[in-house]
Amino acid sequence: MAQSIEPLLRFLDASPTPFHAVAGIAARLRAAGYAAVAERERWRPAAVGKYYFTRNDSSLVAVNLHRPPAEHGFRLVGAHTDSPCLKVKPNAVTHNNGYAKLAVEVYGGALLNPWFDRGLSLAGRVTVRTAAGRIENRLINFARPLAFIPSLAIHLDRDANDNRSINKQKDLPAVLCRVSKRAPDFQRLLRAQLARQYRRLPVDAVLAFELCLYDCQAAEIVGLKNEFIASARLDNLLSCHAGLEALLAAGKKTNNILVLNDHEEVGSVSASGADGLFLHAILRRLCADEPGLDRALSRSMMVSADNAHGVHPNYAHKHEPNHQPLLNAGPVIKVNSNQRYATNSETAAVFRQVCERAGLPFQTVVVRSDLACGSTIGPITAARLGIRTVDIGVPQLGMHSVRELAGVKDQRILTAALKGFYEIADWPF
Ligand code: CO
Repeated sequence: MAQSIEPLLRFLDASPTPFHAVAGIAARLRAAGYAAVAERERWRPAAVGKYYFTRNDSSLVAVNLHRPPAEHGFRLVGAHTDSPCLKVKPNAVTHNNGYAKLAVEVYGGALLNPWFDRGLSLAGRVTVRTAAGRIENRLINFARPLAFIPSLAIHLDRDANDNRSINKQKDLPAVLCRVSKRAPDFQRLLRAQLARQYRRLPVDAVLAFELCLYDCQAAEIVGLKNEFIASARLDNLLSCHAGLEALLAAGKKTNNILVLNDHEEVGSVSASGADGLFLHAILRRLCADEPGLDRALSRSMMVSADNAHGVHPNYAHKHEPNHQPLLNAGPVIKVNSNQRYATNSETAAVFRQVCERAGLPFQTVVVRSDLACGSTIGPITAARLGIRTVDIGVPQLGMHSVRELAGVKDQRILTAALKGFYEIADWPF
């Protein structure tokens, strides 16, 4: 397969927030002939068609319909758009000792050490009042390193290499600039950036915002043999991108759905998260009635794609000795008998057969019995919809760091496996 890694690197850099990821994916879908449909519209699906829906600008469901769902079911691929990060507090700017700083709140289970000593930029969504008095959302991205969280010098913290801990309230405010009298006005900063991005859309006031800091270092290929991808947000934009590529490449005989949810990193309970009704609302509209939806769901399956832990060579003892996924050795089928993953023998077998038929490698993982297991959107969606689900994902290192590591080959293998899944003609069930 000749799939280039460049489009993924560009997508990672262009998607500092879930809002930007969804905007980029929606643009790709429109270019491929998918029509944007607003949930508020009266809308009856044709038997054949390509549509997409968004919620909160940060979650998306794309539908490629070819046959009556009640008779043929759906093939679903799911992933999440959010990643752990530092979000800006509403009263954003503080100042002391001659410096203005940005106050931040930790979103999700971020690994905090890697956020220090990096050029950080700011992006997200602002909600504005326009000159005409309307409330509108705008995406914003400063796209330059305007903030920095400096480490404390080792001379002032001699124990730093042995037991440095991070206080989320005290240690994370990011330095913006020196101030002599007054700290910068954050409203004015935002309005100036909006004026640069949207010259013809004058803003009366910024009413509220959802902004996060992000690392300005671009995604890149690293390693002696150029076999790794180093980037922020590989968990889980890599899966979003693979799902999109698979959807666009898949044949025209099956009903294919891509669902990308925000808020996975904080438990998925939100109007746009996997523990809300977004996906259910769309699937219900695709079916003539409730019994039709139930019949469609019983003929459906979801692949929930979210990155897995590859075995870390410096910490191999943290992984189950008999299940040690390697980078560039294929996607990992995740199993947990306590249902932290939704995989069962039937759905694992379907995914395994997809890989084997396409000549693709795959691996299997369980967490050590004496460690807690993570979870993802798979079990939540399975419980909400009663849909057969397999949890899988490419192995990676440094999960939830501001810079994670995945395998170049795995991206290609995952995309091919998801395409193979979308094209499954018949279920065993
Ligand atoms: Co994830």
